Amino acid sequence: MKVLGIETSCDESGVALYDTERGLQAHALYSQAELHQAYGGVVPELASRDHIRRVLPLIRRVLDQGHCALTELDAIAYTAGPGLAGALLVGASIACGLARALKIPAVGIHHLEGHLLSPMLASPSPRFPFVALLVSGGHTQLVEVAGVNRYRLLGETLDDAAGEAFDKTAKLLGLGYPGGPALARLAERGASGRFRLPRPMLASGDLNFSFSGLKTAALLLAREHGADEGSRADIARAFEEAVVEVLAAKATEALLATGHDQLVVAGGVGANRRLREVLDQRAQDAGFQVFYPPVELCTDNGAMIAYAGAMHLAAGPRVSGYRYTVFPRWDLALAEPKATPSKRLGKRRSART
Ligand code: KG4
Ligand code: ZN
Repeated sequence: MKVLGIETSCDESGVALYDTERGLQAHALYSQAELHQAYGGVVPELASRDHIRRVLPLIRRVLDQGHCALTELDAIAYTAGPGLAGALLVGASIACGLARALKIPAVGIHHLEGHLLSPMLASPSPRFPFVALLVSGGHTQLVEVAGVNRYRLLGETLDDAAGEAFDKTAKLLGLGYPGGPALARLAERGASGRFRLPRPMLASGDLNFSFSGLKTAALLLAREHGADEGSRADIARAFEEAVVEVLAAKATEALLATGHDQLVVAGGVGANRRLREVLDQRAQDAGFQVFYPPVELCTDNGAMIAYAGAMHLAAGPRVSGYRYTVFPRWDLALAEPKATPSKRLGKRRSART
C-alpha cells in the first residue's frame, strides 16, 4: 500500500511517500523559519498562505522521487490536529480533494501520534511497548506506547514545553528564531559550572515537568551577566544542562515506573546533542535502549504522518467520506476528536505542536 503523507500543522510543509512493503520512498520538507524570523515567532496567517504555495510542488517532487504516479496511490494521510487552524486546513483540503478525485481513502492523523510513531521509520526500530519522550516546541510529554492507537499519558509539562523554553531563552540571549538549535550551538562554547540553574520538579515524585521558571532564572542571569558573548554562552550552557538533566531523569523514572526497557525520543528537541549524550549514558548505566529518529524525522515532517496513516489503514477502515474538519486542540488520549471542545480539550494548549 502506497500512502502519501501531508503535514502542515505549523511552520513546516512536509510531504512523504510511505510504502508498506518497501518503507519510506521519498520525503520533502519546506521550512518557513526564514519567513517568520522577522517576527520572532510563527505568524499563523503567513504560515497558511505559505503552505498553499508549497504543498502541491512538494507532492510533485515526492512522487517523482518515489517513482510513483498519482494514480498509484492507495491513500492520503494528513495532519488533522493539533496545530494552527488555517495551516491545518490547507493540508486537509488538499488531501481530501486529491483523495476524492482519485477515489482513495483520506485519513486524518494526530500530529503527536506521528511524532510518537516516527522512530518506527528508523533502523533499528523499537518494538511495542515502549516509553516515548515527546519534546517539541509545543509539547513535553512522557507517553506509554503499547501499540498503534494505544497511548497512555504518563506526565507532561505544567507550563512551557521544553522547545518553547529553548526558544524563549534563546530570544532573551539575543538569538534568532527558532532559537533551540542556535542556543544549543552557543551552549557548546559555554563553560559548565560557572552558572547553575535550578532543576525544576526533579524531586516532584511524578512524571510532570515545568520549564517556565528556568527561563525566568536565565533571564535574571542574562540581565546581570549577559553583556558579553562568553557569559551568554555560559548561561546557555547552564540552561541546556538543567533542561537535559530533568528530561533524562524523568524519562528514566518513566521506564522504571512502567517496567519497559525501550525509550523513544521524538520531537524537535530530540535533535539536541547534549540530550542524546546524557540519555545514551543513562541507558548504558541503567540497562535500557534509546531510539532516536534520524534528525530530519525528529522535527515536523510528512513521513511520520504517512506512516501513521498506513498503520491506521492496516488496523481497519476508519474513513468517513471526504468531509474534513481540523482540530487545533486535540487530546491524544481521545482516539477521535470531538468537534466541540470538551472540558479536557479546553485545557490551555500552545498553538505549536
Ligand atoms: O517538533 P518540532 O519540529 O516542531 C513543533 O514544535 O511543532 O520542534 C521544534 C522545536 C523548537 O522549539 C526548536 O527550537 C526545538 O524543537 N529544537 C531544538 C533543537 N533543534 C530543534 N531544541 C534544542 N536543541 C536543538 N538542537
Ligand atoms: Zn511537531
